[in-house]
Amino acid sequence: MLPIGAMRALRLTGRFFLVAWVFFAALVVYGARRLFTRRGDVERLRGEMLASTFQRLGATYVKFGQILSTRPDLVGPGITEPLSRLQDQVAPVPFAQIARVLDEELDATTRARLVEIEETPIAAASVAQVHRAKLADGTQVALKVQRPSARAQVERDLVLLMLGAKLVSLLPSVRLLSLPGAVERFGDAMKGQLDFRLEAANNRRFAENFASDEGIHVPRLFDELCTERVLGMEFVDGVRATEPEKVGGDRVALAARGLRCILQMVFKDGFVHADLHPGNIMLTPDGRVVLIDLGLVAEIDDELKGPWIQTFVAVSQQDGKMAAGLFYSYAPTVSKHIDYAAFEADVLAHFQSFHGKPLHELEASVVLGGMMNILRKHRVQVDPVFTVVNLAMLVAEGLGKQLDPKLDLIAHAAPFLMEAIAVAPPPRPPRREVPTA
Ligand SMILES: Nc1ncnc2c1ncn2[C@@H]1O[C@H](COP(=O)(O)OP(=O)(O)O)[C@@H](O)[C@H]1O
Ligand SMILES: [Mg+2]
Repeated sequence: MLPIGAMRALRLTGRFFLVAWVFFAALVVYGARRLFTRRGDVERLRGEMLASTFQRLGATYVKFGQILSTRPDLVGPGITEPLSRLQDQVAPVPFAQIARVLDEELDATTRARLVEIEETPIAAASVAQVHRAKLADGTQVALKVQRPSARAQVERDLVLLMLGAKLVSLLPSVRLLSLPGAVERFGDAMKGQLDFRLEAANNRRFAENFASDEGIHVPRLFDELCTERVLGMEFVDGVRATEPEKVGGDRVALAARGLRCILQMVFKDGFVHADLHPGNIMLTPDGRVVLIDLGLVAEIDDELKGPWIQTFVAVSQQDGKMAAGLFYSYAPTVSKHIDYAAFEADVLAHFQSFHGKPLHELEASVVLGGMMNILRKHRVQVDPVFTVVNLAMLVAEGLGKQLDPKLDLIAHAAPFLMEAIAVAPPPRPPRREVPTA
């Protein structure tokens, strides 16, 4: 038997070689672009390879891939699509380990109140698993419990990820992407996921924002069951929005409610669920929409509210010139070599492609997706918050239309937009002037 230190070193070295292999393979694929005539083919190949590698590397990489899949401004659809299919489901750890975390986190009285905990989890992902339980008075609870090894694993993976990022950044063509910075920001987000008190705080803020809306909820928390590694909440008896066909009741009302929920987060509260996919939205038979998994949020800066609301207005009025100007003048960075006239022409052509269509026939996915492609092509960066908002709108549309094919996104959004424009604080001055021809 090898001593533990040596085993650990071996395992680390093994992982390092796996990572090195990935970057090597990535370079090969990068080089392969000459062999293909169509850009899309190369991109899809890269995307599939990245996805399968992340899956093999495990939890932290899967999360990294999932987050990358939500950045259509950074990588093209050929890459986001395979990455968005990455699954964070893993084999559960033995229940004894979960019980030990509960013993360590909860005081004896509280621990004793949990009279029945189902040993088989409802869900098991890399950071936590969720168990159904009962309190002494019969109340059903959902216990989200952190895996004992989660923190150590995340920390180790982040070290390797950073090393990899620094290595590939030695290549001049990659340096522009400022990968180490991206990995650092991702690391902060990932570490935030390890402290469930943040999720509890976000939960309380959402609860307050939606207090006056009967149909929209977040799970009620049991304060004494909420610690750094345990989140005890109301058990929501419903189906996940990934299976909208299983939802009974008034689907049209439910669609409108789900859409309203997302519009309110985006346009009114400026406090948005940033891991918003149908798996994190639950629908109950009595017609409630419940948001879960609230660890990641995006806050919309007050000063930026105005400009990006204007951007939505430009899109809904099909005003390409205005949209191009807004994206350009508020972009965090733009390429030094930008040809503004060509950029604007691409935006105008994109808007032209759906000109004259009635507003309710516009698909957010087509409008926003096309816009992201143009921004990426001309290297006009988008504020990361905007991409969260963008995705929220796409989820709203996708889910809403599954429940109610006639759902009119723009008609529902209009009053939110008007209200938001009326109360928006003075905008931040643009970062740069739009060049005049
Ligand atoms: N309060 C709850 N009531 C019922 N089921 C829940 C509750 N919270 C989580 N779940 C189930 O557990 C799954 C994982 O929980 P989630 O908070 O999304 O964790 P993860 O970060 O692992 O995705 C959810 O998709 C849902 O099926
Ligand atoms: Mg989830």
